[in-house]
Amino acid sequence: MLRSVFLAAAGSSRLERLVGAVPASRSMVRRFIAGDDADQAVTAVRALADDGLAITVDFLNPETTTAEQARAVKDEYVALLGRLKGAGLTPAAEVSLKLSAVGRRLDDKIAFEYASEICSAATEAGTAVTLDAEDHASTDSTLEILLDLRKDFPETGAVLQAHLRRTEGDCRELATAGSRVRLCKGAYSEPESVAFQDALDVDKSFVRCLNILMSGEGYPMVATHDPRLIAIAEDRARWFDRAADEYEFQFLHGVRPEEQARLAAGGNVVRVYLPYGRQWYGYLMRRFAERPANVTLLVRSLTERR
Ligand code: FDA
Repeated sequence: MLRSVFLAAAGSSRLERLVGAVPASRSMVRRFIAGDDADQAVTAVRALADDGLAITVDFLNPETTTAEQARAVKDEYVALLGRLKGAGLTPAAEVSLKLSAVGRRLDDKIAFEYASEICSAATEAGTAVTLDAEDHASTDSTLEILLDLRKDFPETGAVLQAHLRRTEGDCRELATAGSRVRLCKGAYSEPESVAFQDALDVDKSFVRCLNILMSGEGYPMVATHDPRLIAIAEDRARWFDRAADEYEFQFLHGVRPEEQARLAAGGNVVRVYLPYGRQWYGYLMRRFAERPANVTLLVRSLTERR
């Protein structure tokens, strides 16, 4: 129930104006978001890298509805990658990209072209791009563009969402040599026809997908904060005899930092998903949908003195 309230709030422009009046420097926002601009993102990346963590940086942009906006997002990523390289923060840092941000809703060709330019800048910087998963209606197009990008940039990462009924099959397709695949539960509200609705069914699907990825030939990226699923992933990595550099754990910035540190201290690769940009409102509402307890932190930050 609360989940759907926050997912609805993510699309409310009135609420966005109210909450958006809080500068990103406030503690709540800062817990999850690196800052407003690339300067602050690079500073946050450096701090995480100094702690022995890997990073994937995501630029939070307004909804892309024109070709100019798509180009501006592409330019932002290309500039960011240059700065990460210049600061000596690659390959520790890679970037995560939503194809909708580079124009997929306008035309798949524009999205492919701009994603290619970003992949090329990533290669130049000695790092890689991972394509975020969006709503189920875009899954086919994302995977088609992924396969096209991989012809020139084989290190491009995929994201699969365990709540979708199709994902076990997608895991089988993508568990090939060199294939980087992030497995997450899925953050979008989806109909029963395409997605498991019950949390336990999503968890069971996650484990089935994990088994396929861990026993396959690719590079699994286990993106969950769920203690039970993390323990199962550790177990499967041992079972399938994977060395520490043959899979990784991923967390959202600000979530369970003590668990991130524990896994990293145990010799695991731990990557933090680090968003930055002024358009943090929708991202934050999705985090509340996942864990309404986080909202008390927001209330505290709204009442903080400026
Ligand atoms: P869930 O939210 O069910 O939480 C399970 C348990 O984890 C909780 O019961 C609690 O024990 C613990 N937990 C969770 N949040 C916590 C918190 N804030 N503090 C303390 N404990 C907490 N989605 C998508 O659709 N497309 C994408 O591309 C991505 N990309 C992505 C990258 C990365 C690195 C991550 C970690 C996640 C994503 N996601 C995503 C989001 C993902 O689909 C999912 O919505 C969230 O990760 C929340 O699901 P969990 O697996 O954490 O479990």
